[in-house]
Parts: sequence; C-alpha cells; structure tokens
Amino acid sequence: MVCLGNICRSPLAEGILLKSCIDAGLHWQIDSAGTNGYHTGEPPHHLSQKVAKKNGIDISSQVSRKFKKEDILAFDRIYVMADDVMQEVKKIAGNYFDKNKVDYFLNELHPSKNLDVPDPWYGDEDGYDEAYQLIDEACAALLKNYFATLQTTQSNV
Ligand code: 4NP
Repeated sequence: MVCLGNICRSPLAEGILLKSCIDAGLHWQIDSAGTNGYHTGEPPHHLSQKVAKKNGIDISSQVSRKFKKEDILAFDRIYVMADDVMQEVKKIAGNYFDKNKVDYFLNELHPSKNLDVPDPWYGDEDGYDEAYQLIDEACAALLKNYFATLQTTQSNV
C-alpha cells in the first residue's frame, strides 16, 4: 500500500487489509510505504490513528518508511492511493517497474477508472473518516475479487 507520506492513507490501508485478511484466514504479508520519505520513522498521523481506532483497528505501532524499487520484487501486488503516487512509484522503480504488479487501489472498486483516494493531509477529521470509508470499501472489493478469481482458477483445473 503506497501513498506520499505513509502517514495518512496507506497506514489505514495496511491496517484495514491486515485485519480483513486475518478475519478471512489469509496469511498475506501486508506492508505500506510512502514515496516522499518526509515522515520516515514517524507513526501514522494522529487522525488516521483516531479513525482507525473508532473502527476497531490499532495502527499505532506502524512506522513510516520510504518506498524503494526493491519493493517491486518483494511484493506480488503494489497498490497506489493516487495518480501522483503512481508517477512517483514509476520514477523510484525505474526499470524495476512492473505494470502487472502495480495498480491504483481504487481500481479494485471501480475497475480501470484510475481514481484517487483523496489526500486528507491538509484537512480535518472528516477527510480522514472519508478516506477510511473509501479504503475499507476497496479492501472489501479486493478480497471479493481475489476469492472470485480463485474460484474461477480452481474450477478451470
Ligand atoms: P499521505 O498524506 O500520503 O496520505 O500519507 C500526506 C502526508 C504528508 C505529506 C503529503 C501527503 N507531506 O507532504 O508531508
């Protein structure tokens, strides 16, 4: 899960997807990172922590880190929160970039639309609530799409 600062959106995405995977019995390794590195070593923004906690998810132990090109090799899927993040991921990844692995996170919910999760960084708590809801819906869609693909693959064997 990748955003710019790795303190607002992608920590929510990491926390929500991790909980969803545990609930679904999936043992996926979930991580998040930011393309700008401005907040490396910091915990998630206090409002991201607050909205996560309101929804029963503790993200307080996450630590911001910068996205690196080796992440493209280390993970099966890389989800970007917005188009500016996609452009930065392409720059950082260089010739490691793999279009089959990297996608806009909201494409799980709205295929091929390349939509942004709005950045709540400059706003108030409402923006963080909205980001939470959108990310939560996209996580649910991701798992639904995963299980649908799994079923199709298995019935073809
Ligand atoms: P995020 O929000 O990408 O959702 O973590 C931001 C946090 C910090 C900055 C930009 C976006 N910043 O420029 O410091």
